[in-house]
Amino acid sequence: MAHLFTPYSIWNLELKNRIVMAPMCQYSVTAKDGKPNDWHFTHYTSRAVGGVGLIIVEMTDVEPDGRITDYDLGLWSDDHIPPFQRIVDACHAHGAKIGIQIAHAGRKAEDAPVPVAPSPIRFDGPQYKTPRELSTDEVKQMVEKFAAAARRAVKAGFDVIELHGAHGYLIHQFHSPLTNRRKDAYGEDLALFGVEVIQAVKAEMPSGMPLFVRVSAVEYADGGYDLDHAIEICRRYRDAGADVIHVSSGGEGPPGARRPGNFPGFQVPYARRIKDALQVPVIAVGMLDHPALAESVVANGDADLVAIARGLLRDPYWPIHAAISLGEKPQVPVQYQRAF
Ligand SMILES: Cc1cc2nc3c(=O)[nH]c(=O)nc-3n(C[C@H](O)[C@H](O)[C@H](O)COP(=O)(O)O)c2cc1C
Repeated sequence: MAHLFTPYSIWNLELKNRIVMAPMCQYSVTAKDGKPNDWHFTHYTSRAVGGVGLIIVEMTDVEPDGRITDYDLGLWSDDHIPPFQRIVDACHAHGAKIGIQIAHAGRKAEDAPVPVAPSPIRFDGPQYKTPRELSTDEVKQMVEKFAAAARRAVKAGFDVIELHGAHGYLIHQFHSPLTNRRKDAYGEDLALFGVEVIQAVKAEMPSGMPLFVRVSAVEYADGGYDLDHAIEICRRYRDAGADVIHVSSGGEGPPGARRPGNFPGFQVPYARRIKDALQVPVIAVGMLDHPALAESVVANGDADLVAIARGLLRDPYWPIHAAISLGEKPQVPVQYQRAF
């Protein structure tokens, strides 16, 4: 059997295959209230019908000013729970497990009147404003906002929570020397904010429910951190309660001399290094939508799970087509079996 289609389990989470739908902002909350609508329902349930093992719902923010734009999802009130629960229930009915990426955009919040960040350092680009530095008390309150969002995600029935610690958003801003110039404890220890968020979120999750953390393994801006720094941050996150590391890269600013790869599998070596250094399960992501490549990443033990983003926008039935291309009998919904 193709390794991509073997089941995977961690704690109480049992996945039917190794295929993860990577979180992808849809910028489609037309009511600007942070609540998923019919677009989100159709978008996520289509991928469940298509055979994805684990869907991760796009970046969902802990407060209105934590959104990249006003069209993003949020979990800042209990009123948000029912529309998420509807998506969760439908994805479960189609045989998928489903997680949610909880986040705050920090200095990358484009529509916030005054974005907040670890330090008042502006992100490069005309749509960005100079952020206000969070006070120490406000940082502690922010930890509680992540915990409250996690509590709501658990109520909505999600199987997994993923914290967005990548791509230059708030958790990443704290653990990066480029964006955290604080003089308090949250600046002396760059991992402290992420560690406290992980501990507070974990405290809201039932035992047996795994916590994923997405990180940028390297920064591409000049002076940005390297893989060794990311490994030390991930070590702290693992020790604080992160069960799976989802390995991406960049997003902190325009690339300098070091540039992101633009070729299949370019982030897989980072996933492998983090897995080997920390003995922690990892998800590899980034141009992995050729089925033979995705299969080799799992088969070689480079990563435990493979996340597909744009490939699943192009083809909601990517898992079915990948199975056929790897010589497997695809799991097709009974309604569609006459087509295969
Ligand atoms: C439309 C779009 C929206 C995205 N939104 C998010 C997001 O909400 N959170 C996140 O961590 N990454 C986001 N990403 C990055 C993807 O999760 C993924 O890491 C990236 O696209 C590389 O994977 P791919 O080559 O399979 O597309 C987004 C990517 C796309 C194309």
